[in-house]
Amino acid sequence: MESVAASGEGRIGLDIGTSKIMSIRQSGNQLKASTEVNAFLPLPYSRITENILLQNKVHYYQNNGHFFVYGNSAEKFAGLFNAETRRPMSGGLINPDEPAALTLIKVIIKGLVKKPKSDDDLVCFSVPGAPADAPHDLIYHEQLLKGYLSELGFKTKSINEGQAIIFAELEKENFTGIGISCGGGMCNACLAYLSVPVASFSTTKAGDFIDKSVGSVTGESATRVKLIKEQSLDLTKDPKDKIEEALHIYYDEVIGELIRTLNDSMSKASSESHQLDAPVPVVLAGGTAQPAGFRDKFAKALEASNCPVPVSEVRLSSNPSQATARGAFIAAVYDS
Ligand SMILES: Nc1ncnc2c1ncn2[C@@H]1O[C@H](COP(=O)(O)OP(=O)(O)OP(=O)(O)O)[C@@H](O)[C@H]1O
Ligand SMILES: [Mg+2]
Repeated sequence: MESVAASGEGRIGLDIGTSKIMSIRQSGNQLKASTEVNAFLPLPYSRITENILLQNKVHYYQNNGHFFVYGNSAEKFAGLFNAETRRPMSGGLINPDEPAALTLIKVIIKGLVKKPKSDDDLVCFSVPGAPADAPHDLIYHEQLLKGYLSELGFKTKSINEGQAIIFAELEKENFTGIGISCGGGMCNACLAYLSVPVASFSTTKAGDFIDKSVGSVTGESATRVKLIKEQSLDLTKDPKDKIEEALHIYYDEVIGELIRTLNDSMSKASSESHQLDAPVPVVLAGGTAQPAGFRDKFAKALEASNCPVPVSEVRLSSNPSQATARGAFIAAVYDS
């Protein structure tokens, strides 16, 4: 990473995820990551509220009488007011059911990438694999984001999220293998050979699906399920209550769907004559891959599934939540 950092001036990696947006750029000899939760909360406007928000350095946006707290602050406020945040994205893409989606995603992105310092500054942003049921929706999503970053004055480039994981994690393997990001709205995967993508796909069963489904069968709110899941889920231990039991069941479903789709895409790819000469590594990343036991559960299920691509090992990224942004940054630097 040091050699990359040394030439990363004016390059930004941007992970535009359903749950969070993260930028990585070079700062001196180091890489600096900044994150905002990809959510917002409308608030009734008053002068007093605005002053308090200003004094407390809360991120907010005001336009035409509308007043929104966004990013990391939105979650804190939602907790205080016992309200649900609203989200600019769902299932990996701009949320078509959210009227304020475009405005707020722009505000959050602008806060993270800031202004370019030269005409040559480049942002490489992550995009998901095309959803199987609506492949053309990705075109809109990608073009909107590209257009917005260009308006800010950046050169742009996009990278498939699975491929970003390969850039972040498989340098020693010459960027050959399978990268998988298990996020909030989607699981995204890519098989690359010497950095060239051979097959990529996405599923929409990921973290949000777990929260919603567990909430639905246990009578809890998805927000509370998410909190429990993030703070205490351990997939190596037997479930000790109803919520944990449901979390295990829906984690199995996420992994099952991911492996079914992986095997399907890989068999299509190998029938199109991309025969690999040696077994390849699989790297797992993303927030949903974080609970203890996730890697083992995935590896066991993969082994039992007759994957058409020979796999040498399944490993977990050393920093699962940063891997996509790091991969996008590396791709931006390689573009120099
Ligand atoms: N420690 C944890 N244990 C379990 N789940 C977690 C943990 N930390 C985060 N998550 C879950 O990971 C998901 C967010 O992951 P991530 O930040 O990789 O997604 P994203 O990139 O924003 O979304 P996507 O790639 O799907 O568009 C959320 O569902 C969150 O609840
Ligand atoms: Mg992601």
